[in-house]
Amino acid sequence: MEDKATIQTQSRYNRIAPFYDLMEAIVERLVFQRWREMLWSRVRGERVLEVGVGTGKNLPYYRQGIRMTAVDMSERMLERARRRAQKLRIDVELQLMDIQNLEFPDATFDAAVATFVFCSVPDPVLGLRELERVVKPGGQILLLEHVRVNKPLIGSLMDRLDPLILRLAGPHIKRRTVENVKKAGLEIEWVEELAPGGLVKLIIARRAL
Ligand SMILES: C[S@@+](CC[C@H](N)C(=O)[O-])C[C@H]1O[C@@H](n2cnc3c(N)ncnc32)[C@H](O)[C@@H]1O
Repeated sequence: MEDKATIQTQSRYNRIAPFYDLMEAIVERLVFQRWREMLWSRVRGERVLEVGVGTGKNLPYYRQGIRMTAVDMSERMLERARRRAQKLRIDVELQLMDIQNLEFPDATFDAAVATFVFCSVPDPVLGLRELERVVKPGGQILLLEHVRVNKPLIGSLMDRLDPLILRLAGPHIKRRTVENVKKAGLEIEWVEELAPGGLVKLIIARRAL
């Protein structure tokens, strides 16, 4: 975790960790919970990795009886995930780790999940390539992501506002995540537009067999 952008992202999330759940409480209840449920109902396999686990908002949706591993590069976010896991009695192995440099052997997991993460990973294609490496051939990668809207006016506004939002809140708002998934060499299986204009997407991809 040496490059400047990665260190900045890490300290940004360490800083916002105490307020993160509160900041998102309303939208979490109104829509995110439903989308998380939708994503997790599609996860297959016995050994699953969650990257960018944050404060552990996905923990309640983990399927019982599967072996879960979850990573994040912010110690402060992880602390909260740890507390949530204890409170909910969820069995998950939580580790401090950079998505861009995962410390797992090739083909370890049946599936990998990330929700609202690739908007803030400094090099998203590198991170997605790491997911491709650590899932088994044919394994799933499931993402819930806000992305750049593919409309001329809103799209260019998002491009312009991106540096400001990045500094204030942490994420990029101009990521083209579907394209990045393809660039990482993954096969797209399903893309569903969840918010108007395709602002939020459920993306299901697969490592080639
Ligand atoms: C917007 S939060 C989303 C948290 C959680 N997935 C959720 O749905 O609430 C993004 C998370 O990704 C983590 N993250 C960003 N870049 C990362 C990287 N390169 N390696 C590991 N974690 C990263 C941040 O620390 C943060 O916890």
